[in-house]
Amino acid sequence: MYDFTPTATTASERYRELLDAADALTAGEPDAVANMANVAALLWAFLPDLNWAGFYRVAPTRDGAASELVLGPFVGRPACIRIPFGKGVCGTAAQSRAAQLVADVHAFPGHIACDAASRSELVVPVLRDGAVIAVIDLDSPSPARFTTADTEGITALAALLSPRI
Ligand code: SME
Repeated sequence: MYDFTPTATTASERYRELLDAADALTAGEPDAVANMANVAALLWAFLPDLNWAGFYRVAPTRDGAASELVLGPFVGRPACIRIPFGKGVCGTAAQSRAAQLVADVHAFPGHIACDAASRSELVVPVLRDGAVIAVIDLDSPSPARFTTADTEGITALAALLSPRI
């Protein structure tokens, strides 16, 4: 049994514990789906006040002619499956290869509402050799839930996972 129980009281301690747990769970495991699934569960366990936590992967479009974001392992309500580059918060993060910290999703042009409860969102690209291979998406029912400490923590997680997903 894996027992990763968060004990941290500050954001930086929380992310240190989360990264340690993610490292321990994914080290030496080559299966990308298993690693994303376990990390989605860790995000849900370690980060308070979320209503969705998970991954979109860069994968072929249905006709195979291009790439887009395709839903990966997550915790939360069922979500939209395919997101074109440049669309919504996730597609913007993928296209720009830059984290998107959105205090009010209703004010983000083109935001894709998968869960009407979502009020704020953080999306961080996972880069490998400079190219985006996935994004990590966190949603919260609280406005302005995420801070730069969250962006830094999730960016460090993305770097850890890049060779493992
Ligand atoms: N809100 C995202 C879509 C994904 S769901 O939040 C899980 C977006 O605008 O890209």
